[in-house]
Amino acid sequence: MGPPGAGKGTQAEIVAERFGIPAISTGDIFRANVAENTELGIEAKRYMDAGEYVPDAVTNLMVRNRIDEEDAAKGFLLDGYPRTLDQVEELDGMIRHTGHRLDAVVVLTVDPGELGARLSARAQKEGRADDTEEVIRRRQEVYTEQTEPLIDVYRKRGLLREVDGLGEVDEVTERIMSILTQVEES
Ligand code: AP5
Ligand code: MG
Repeated sequence: MGPPGAGKGTQAEIVAERFGIPAISTGDIFRANVAENTELGIEAKRYMDAGEYVPDAVTNLMVRNRIDEEDAAKGFLLDGYPRTLDQVEELDGMIRHTGHRLDAVVVLTVDPGELGARLSARAQKEGRADDTEEVIRRRQEVYTEQTEPLIDVYRKRGLLREVDGLGEVDEVTERIMSILTQVEES
């Protein structure tokens, strides 16, 4: 977890590879569907371009199907899911069904100034449709309103691991790895 630009996608890829499990990014799956102009992509794009969340029913079904795939059998790392209280409950149900359990919830903390700088830099490099100033602002608001409350939910469950997301990518990776290795051993 973490606000837009915190480094979720960057770190998820690296960390998942170290553990030999897939990184499942709801944002990436939506973007792939938008690029291929699938029905799901057409539906998702309306929300993404405005910086709003795609409806829970659509997102939950997509994740349910994804974690049922064979490569996720031994475990997976979720990037950008769950993001709403409804998604938290759905995920609980899904992993009860697949026999997985949640080991840890990593939250990357980065101050707003740095987030803005990272996203405007990416806007220039990659031109992601939702990296405009206005939509970035809306994504940040939606995160605060709908996703930040999940931090307390997972804290109460004893799963929360807060990680400083500032610094070089490698430094952040090592912070995450040292925390997750402890979780793995316990
Ligand atoms: P999503 O793709 O998840 O976007 P986001 O949450 O806004 O986050 P970003 O991908 O922008 O940032 P990130 O934290 O992954 O950081 P990154 O590693 O890229 O979601 C997009 C949309 O899809 C949502 O708005 C919504 O519409 C929909 N959606 C997705 N999931 C959903 C869900 N569960 N429910 C409903 N709707 C959903 O890094 C950012 C930049 O910083 C990059 O350029 C990177 O190179 C750079 N960077 C990374 N780390 C560092 C570092 N340590 N130092 C300097 N730069 C760094
Ligand atoms: Mg991302």
